[in-house]
Amino acid sequence: MIQAAHVHQPDLLDELGAQLHPAIIAIDGPAASGKSTVGFRLANALDYLFFDTGVMYRAVTWAALARGVAIDDETAIGALAHAITIDILPPQPNQHDGRHTTVLVDGEDVTWLIRAPEVDRNVSAVSAYPEVRTAMTAKQRAIAQRYGRGDAEKRGIVMVGRDIGTVVMPDAPLKLYVDAAPEERARRRHQELAKQGKHIPYAEVLADMVRRDRIDSERPLSPLRRAADAIRIDNSTQTAEDTLAQAIDALRTAVDASLVQQDRN
Ligand code: DC
Repeated sequence: MIQAAHVHQPDLLDELGAQLHPAIIAIDGPAASGKSTVGFRLANALDYLFFDTGVMYRAVTWAALARGVAIDDETAIGALAHAITIDILPPQPNQHDGRHTTVLVDGEDVTWLIRAPEVDRNVSAVSAYPEVRTAMTAKQRAIAQRYGRGDAEKRGIVMVGRDIGTVVMPDAPLKLYVDAAPEERARRRHQELAKQGKHIPYAEVLADMVRRDRIDSERPLSPLRRAADAIRIDNSTQTAEDTLAQAIDALRTAVDASLVQQDRN
């Protein structure tokens, strides 16, 4: 049952955030499923770092396009993934442009450049390359472990992606799988693009989304799928607030289970 009241109980959230060990929440799901919205809000409520791992694959794709590296040149893209430095920073107080994080590639702010339709079109191909995944997974694990132990600037981490619960952090104490119908996800992406002044026909957005879903879930390495122990949240017809409430309920259950386990040990 959704207990939306929890969303407005900062003390309870503070307590839950402190009780999760390691303090790692894995959220996976397809594009535009609302996983970043719930992840960002959960991270803020718990004072955890919000880390959308998709930005890393986008950053590699953007760098390839910007440097004229052919997207089908797997070897060159793999080398590029190892060579570039990607930094993920919380937004600065003077940045009020709706960003959830700042993404730097070799020091250059690419936060919005990585959202271009050209990156959208090519990122699934880039993220399927094993060398790219090896490089990104290593960086993501190092960040997760540091925050999960509680010796970083924030007391935990909410990681959002496609393979966080299955491959990157399979031992995360809370895993969510956020999903929504493709038509609804395409509608959201279509609206988001329109807000940015990009008027792409809905049918095109939907076709692109279905194509990306297929590449993401059919690739042999780390395909998009729900981990057996991930809690599935379908938010096709519910509000972001309801989704957050469901996530908090799942967190409470995970914390209760880990406290029982600690008592037994
Ligand atoms: O969530 P997004 O649309 O920003 O993700 C961009 C791409 O990166 C998408 O095609 C899937 C891929 N991705 C991935 O393979 N593994 C992750 N952990 C995160 C994203």
